[in-house]
Amino acid sequence: MPPVELALVGAGNRGFLAYGGHALRHPDEAKFVAVVEPDDRRRARFAAAHAIPPERQFRSWEDLASRPRLGHAAVNATMDRVHRASTLALLAAGYDVLLEKPIAPTAEECLEIVEAAEAAGRLLQIAHVLRYAPFFVAVRDQVVSGRLGRIVSVDWRENLAYWHFAHSYVRGNWANTARAGPMMLTKCCHDLDLLVWLFGPCERLASYGSLTRFVRDAIDVAVPDRCTDGCPIEGTCPYYAPRVYLTRFRENPNSFAVHALTLDQSEDGIMHALRTGPYGRCVYRCDNDAVDHQVVLLRFARGVDVSLTMQGASHVEGRTVRIDGTGGTLLANESRGEIELHDHLTGRAETLRVQRGVGGHGGGDEGLMRAFVAAIRGDRTEMRTSAREALTSHLMAFAAEDARESGASVAIEGYREKVAAS
Ligand SMILES: NC(=O)c1ccc[n+]([C@@H]2O[C@H](COP(=O)([O-])OP(=O)(O)OC[C@H]3O[C@@H](n4cnc5c(N)ncnc54)[C@H](O)[C@@H]3O)[C@@H](O)[C@H]2O)c1
Repeated sequence: MPPVELALVGAGNRGFLAYGGHALRHPDEAKFVAVVEPDDRRRARFAAAHAIPPERQFRSWEDLASRPRLGHAAVNATMDRVHRASTLALLAAGYDVLLEKPIAPTAEECLEIVEAAEAAGRLLQIAHVLRYAPFFVAVRDQVVSGRLGRIVSVDWRENLAYWHFAHSYVRGNWANTARAGPMMLTKCCHDLDLLVWLFGPCERLASYGSLTRFVRDAIDVAVPDRCTDGCPIEGTCPYYAPRVYLTRFRENPNSFAVHALTLDQSEDGIMHALRTGPYGRCVYRCDNDAVDHQVVLLRFARGVDVSLTMQGASHVEGRTVRIDGTGGTLLANESRGEIELHDHLTGRAETLRVQRGVGGHGGGDEGLMRAFVAAIRGDRTEMRTSAREALTSHLMAFAAEDARESGASVAIEGYREKVAAS
């Protein structure tokens, strides 16, 4: 079977590394035949890697959407705030679309995009990659197997490494909620999606959270706006940018954080980007307002109560999960790839070790692309979610932000109608 031909819209980090990377590793599955990217160097980098001729290289999605379809479908890996305009244009131009999460930064836009895809009869696949990650598939297998009995209580933690938090949510793309949307959407729409996948519909939620660490008065010494301008606390600050990024680069030159900085993947290139770009800014002197920790308490159907914690001060990246049921307890540690199972009847325990898949998100990126390609070829059996289901968990994220801001608990039933009516 020939590969599915795709147009890439947005050749940044995700476009180049996750989706482009998949096509290069699996030329039998997918081939990018067009690229849309306003940044000349990024566009050229992607076009060179995928041998895309000049007449199929475009500066903006309007250029692609205004001509007859190129390829079978489009992958939209633009930043969140342009998802609405770009996706509506691609759908109208006849493309099935794999759209990066979050669907869009506001509830109204999310609803509009999903309804537009349904009205046009187009496939819209949202990149909820963790449904394809072997680790979370294994967690779910244990829950649906019934081995834990009836689920009683769940602790779900999204632990973001301190440097990743500073990179994305203080200095980077998702630091400012007016531009990017609330934290539960930008970081935890995956977690909310997994919770719905595991436990079904959510009935109510409440939330607390705030920004306490990355604020101007968190330190009481005078510091420059940039780490590279002679900071007096560089030796004791964990967020001193040259140390953070050069360490990442030396450990893994393909780190997403390094790629976000600059296309010049050398130590000189990184230092230049830190002296001039957003990632060299002092974490106490940015324009961030995203919370740095948040808890959400959720009531699911059948009385399953869940506490979801997001925090950005972790030593290591990765979710930790505890699920207690009438028949047993499950303890999962994503960074170690371990799932411990304790049986209440026998008192016995066993540990499952789950191998990470190839590529980003523990293999989730690969699984998602494979399912999308299969769906374009007519086989939708591997698709583990729909845009409509993704909308459900996205609306929970907005409801959680409403709950955090108001201090009140929010009923999920009727929330979509409230959004549609607003
Ligand atoms: N699935 C996941 O777990 C996951 C992880 C990280 C990021 N994301 C999402 O992926 C998306 C991309 O994130 P990223 O980190 O790659 O961002 P990025 O900024 O590196 O890439 C976005 C690219 O879109 C380009 N762009 C801007 N305007 C455009 C236009 N008019 N036409 C075409 N391209 C345009 C930008 O120049 C940039 O290169 C975001 O929605 C983000 O939230 C998802």
